[in-house]
Amino acid sequence: MSINRKILTLDEFTIQQLRNFPHATGELSSLLRDLGLAAKRVNVEVNKAGLVDILGDAGTVNIQGEDVKKLDVFANNQFMKVLQHGVSCAGIASEEMDDFVAFDDEISKKAKYVVMFDPLDGSGNIDVNISIGTIFSVYRRVSERGTLCTKEDFLQSGINQVAAGYMVYGSSTMMVYATRRGVNGFTLDPSIGEFCLSHPDIQCLPDGNIYSVNHGNFFRYEKGVQEYITECQKKDKSNGGPYTQRYIGSMVADVHRSLIKGGIFMYPGTTDKPNGKLRLCYECNPFAFIVEVAGGKATNGMIRILDIQPNDLHQRVPLFIGSSNMMKELEEFHKPQKELAV
Ligand code: AHG
Ligand code: MN
Ligand code: MN
Repeated sequence: MSINRKILTLDEFTIQQLRNFPHATGELSSLLRDLGLAAKRVNVEVNKAGLVDILGDAGTVNIQGEDVKKLDVFANNQFMKVLQHGVSCAGIASEEMDDFVAFDDEISKKAKYVVMFDPLDGSGNIDVNISIGTIFSVYRRVSERGTLCTKEDFLQSGINQVAAGYMVYGSSTMMVYATRRGVNGFTLDPSIGEFCLSHPDIQCLPDGNIYSVNHGNFFRYEKGVQEYITECQKKDKSNGGPYTQRYIGSMVADVHRSLIKGGIFMYPGTTDKPNGKLRLCYECNPFAFIVEVAGGKATNGMIRILDIQPNDLHQRVPLFIGSSNMMKELEEFHKPQKELAV
C-alpha cells in the first residue's frame, strides 16, 4: 500500500500553524499538545477498563450530586497534572472539582491561559463499553500574569474562548479542536501513538436529518420543544423526513456525529430541571464555540450560548446545537421564551 500524502501529526500541525503567525509565542500550541498527551493516557486506561479495577463508582458524589466513577477521577487527575507541569496554563476548573485550582508555581503563574474541562463526558456509559469523551475550553486570563489566577479568569462568556475541543474515546480515538481560524480533527494512530490530522477544516453542514434528544423526558419538555420533536417525526419524503433519531447519552459522541454528518442535538429544560442538565462552562460553551466556528449554531432556546455571562462555575443551561437550517426550523416551533432562566 502506498501512502501518497504526508499525514501531519498534531504536533506537526500546531507547529505549522504557528509558522503562519510569526508573532505567536507558541503557548497555545504547547497547551494543545499537553491536552493531546493527557488524552493519550486516558485513552490507554479507557481501552483496558474492563481488565483493570477501574470500572464502577469511586464511592463519592460530585458537587452536582452525581456519582463519581473511578475513571472520572483518573481522567481529572491526568488533565490537571499535565497542565500543571506544562508552561502555558495558570490554572484549571473541572466539572469534577468544587472550585477552580490556581497553579502555585513560578512558571504556571506567568502562563497566559486557563483551561476548563469535563474530564470524562458520558461517564455513565463507561461500564457498558460505549463511546465517552473529554471536553475542554481555553481562555486567556484576565488577571495579571505573574500572579495566581482568579475566579474571574474562569467566569468569562464563551465568546472569549481562544480554543475549545474534545476527545472521543470510541471505535477510534479522536481529538477535535477549534480556534477562530477553523476546526480540525485528528485520529489517534495506535501504531505510532500519535494523533494524526484526519478531518481537516471541518464544516457543520447547514442541513441534516438526524435529531438527538432524550425522548424519555418528552412530556417534561416545553410545548414548543414537543412540537418540534413531533415535526421531526412527521416529515415525509417530500420534505426530507422523517428524521432519524439517535441518542447515545454521551454528548461528545452525539454532537460529534451532528458536526460530521449534520444534525441537531438538544438537551432542553424540563419541568423538574428548568435549566436542563448540561453545564455551561464545561460542556455547552466549548461545543457552542466549535460548532459556530464550523458554521452551525447553539442557543439555550432564548439566546446564543456564547453570549451568556456565567455567574457560577457549575451552572447549567438548556442546549440546542447543530446545523444552521435545523436550528432555524427549531426556532419556528420553539420561539424564544422570555421566562426561561439563563
Ligand atoms: P457527564 O458524564 O459528564 O456527567 O455528562 C453526561 C451528560 C451528557 O454527556 C449526555 O448528553 C447527558 O448527560 C445524558 O443525560 P440523560 O441520561 O439525562 O439523557
Ligand atoms: Mn459531561
Ligand atoms: Mn463528566
